[in-house]
Amino acid sequence: MSFRIQPSPAARPNRCQLFGPGSRPAIFEKMAGSAADVINLDLEDSVAPTDKESARDNIIQAIGDIDWGKKTLSVRINGLDTPYWYRDVVDLLEKSSDRLDQIMIPKVGCAEDLYAVDALVTAVERAKGRAKPIKFEVIIESAAGIAHVEQIAAASPRLEAMSLGAADFAASMGMATTGIGGTQENYYMLHEGAKHWSDPWHWAQAAIVAACRTHGVLPVDGPFGDFSDDEGYRAQALRSATLGMVGKWAIHPKQVTLANEVFTPSDKAVSEAREILDAMEEAKAKGEGATVYKGRLVDLASIKQAEVIVKQSEMIAGH
Ligand code: COA
Ligand code: MG
Repeated sequence: MSFRIQPSPAARPNRCQLFGPGSRPAIFEKMAGSAADVINLDLEDSVAPTDKESARDNIIQAIGDIDWGKKTLSVRINGLDTPYWYRDVVDLLEKSSDRLDQIMIPKVGCAEDLYAVDALVTAVERAKGRAKPIKFEVIIESAAGIAHVEQIAAASPRLEAMSLGAADFAASMGMATTGIGGTQENYYMLHEGAKHWSDPWHWAQAAIVAACRTHGVLPVDGPFGDFSDDEGYRAQALRSATLGMVGKWAIHPKQVTLANEVFTPSDKAVSEAREILDAMEEAKAKGEGATVYKGRLVDLASIKQAEVIVKQSEMIAGH
């Protein structure tokens, strides 16, 4: 371990983030009644330019009026390249109740993007005497975002979570696809005439996880566009969980159950992790640093791996 200890991210579940357009207030109650850990009311790309103002009003009203339970409540503002974002921030913080937890900043490209929003948020919070500091989450969805991912992860003490936005990311990178996440038909290796598909999102995901884990931020997988393809969603989510991500977005309510299943450690995984911890306790009592569990090596690193699963399960159960 480096002298600098890896910081822990926020101890709250973030298995599923359910999105809904701010211009469709009829679904807000349904979103609040869902099993998603995080709710993202959207002012950005699911809202047409002519609806931006009314969507803002709908969201400000709903933040105070609806019972959001224990969910993390987040609003996605417009990007810093638009004329809307400053008014999103000012109106949200001047007019909405303290129930708002988080602002999601899309298309961040550098640390200064967070600095700018932080300065504005801090000024409005002070002016209005808001007691609860607003947290940030960001979307990495451009070439600049991934190139500067580590400095973005370190940019603000308000930052709690970072997502990969596959569609805008693919466009910015010039990728030859119109799919939102998942398997891409043309991304394969050929071996003895047979196609073996690879994962074009892998590199970006791993870069995000490394930046997030270095700076105590929750790494999250973004949207999966084809909401009729449950198996495709599950496969993508399983890969993300394996790489260290803690959750995934839902752009339709049916994806919430899928995400919660994948990102809640299974009873089997938790009991196996506990058995590894027990085996290592026994080994330590005998003065050994390594032992054998079900025919395979476990050592001091296995304790840390097992603890990740046990702690995640306890945190979710205790929330
Ligand atoms: N949250 C909660 N409930 C939702 C919902 C959402 N995001 N989207 C749809 N529903 C509800 C519908 O109101 C409907 O409810 P009902 O059974 O009581 O009538 C039910 O779920 C089934 O909806 P369905 O008819 O299958 O979908 P739709 O055609 O109404 O909407 C989308 C489909 C994709 C347009 C819609 O889900 C949506 O806007 N998703 C979010 C998009 C978004 O925010 N994108 C930005 C992030 S990428
Ligand atoms: Mg986007």
